Amino acid sequence: MKIISVVGARPNFMKLAPLHRAFAGYPDIEHIILHTGQHYDEKMSHIFFTQLDIPKPDYNLGIGGGSHTYQKAAVMMAFEKVLSDERPDMVLVVGDVNATAACSITAVKMGIKLIHVEAGLRSHDRRMSEEINRLVTDCISDYLFVTEQSAIDHLAVEGVPPEKVFYVGNLMIDNLIHLADKAAQATIKSKLKITDHSYVLMTMHRPSNVDHKAGLLSIIKMIELIATYKTVVFPVHPRTQKQLISHGLWDTLATMQNVIVEEPLGYLEFLNLIQTAAAVVTDSGGIQEETSYLNVPCITFRISTERPVTVDLGTNVLIDNLDPERVNAVLKNILSGERKESVIPLYWDGKTADRIAHIIANLDY
Ligand code: UD1
Repeated sequence: MKIISVVGARPNFMKLAPLHRAFAGYPDIEHIILHTGQHYDEKMSHIFFTQLDIPKPDYNLGIGGGSHTYQKAAVMMAFEKVLSDERPDMVLVVGDVNATAACSITAVKMGIKLIHVEAGLRSHDRRMSEEINRLVTDCISDYLFVTEQSAIDHLAVEGVPPEKVFYVGNLMIDNLIHLADKAAQATIKSKLKITDHSYVLMTMHRPSNVDHKAGLLSIIKMIELIATYKTVVFPVHPRTQKQLISHGLWDTLATMQNVIVEEPLGYLEFLNLIQTAAAVVTDSGGIQEETSYLNVPCITFRISTERPVTVDLGTNVLIDNLDPERVNAVLKNILSGERKESVIPLYWDGKTADRIAHIIANLDY
């Protein structure tokens, strides 16, 4: 069985690593890795391949940045050529980035079976590109692997036959479990001159938060409030940095007291910082899951989440992205002990990749 797994952007790499390890246990599976190149620089891409021990991709389409339409069209044309040459039995896509949807459409149009890992998640907010990518990918996938019950419910409502859907758990948690000890040894805290639990870790990159001035001002206000009582550690995503610079706000952020502004960090360094954060404030999808697994308080600066299990069972609290005062009030309560304790969802146990590989190896395709 020949499978091409597709990755394009940072959150995909953590899901590829455990899958690649699991497929290696099946001599009948030939696993080809294709990177679309949506994320392309050292800090957003290469470092993850090194730290997660993923081999160099067999193909890198080198598409890079650009509008979403450009990215998808360019990926589809280049991927079509690869599929014609390789004729794989299956294409496997993960998550909800542009590469996921573009490669899904290309594969299905060429009659190749499509596997979607992390299927069925819904924010119910179609202004998010990721929501469109999820909807498009799921409705054309042949096999859908899901991380939480809400995904099963959504796919059922959307008419996906249940025999196509497999509850397997969470690949990103596989990776976290695999590398937790190594991450705990990372020296990032001494480099930043911070100690365990003395800081709030922040990430922000959603277009709904950073692609307009009101959102950026709201983030700056939130940081200013938190920094009066906790050090804020903020590795800044390239999208956010570009927007801050273009709105003339970069210097304001970079010179704030008690705020450590960093470039994007490697997987091990970032996981190290989550492990001992007093709390995390984010708009990321995956970080909501990682903090819930690690029982670290998380405030998500968004009005919706496609990962409701992190709110129902985990540590996650959603707060409107234009309400920095509320984040501050909730954070203060959390730090004074009024916090949620997490219950780990079923199958978030480090064995998800093994389940997926076993199911795929036994598919009657
Ligand atoms: C993408 C995903 C998002 C994911 C995020 C993680 C989509 C629709 N969005 O958003 O779901 O949470 O990745 O980071 O696919 N850039 C660099 N260096 C890089 C990569 C990007 O400087 O290596 C710059 C680009 O030039 C662009 C900006 O960062 O200006 C945003 O990149 P883009 O690929 O459009 O999407 P993200 O915002 O990263």
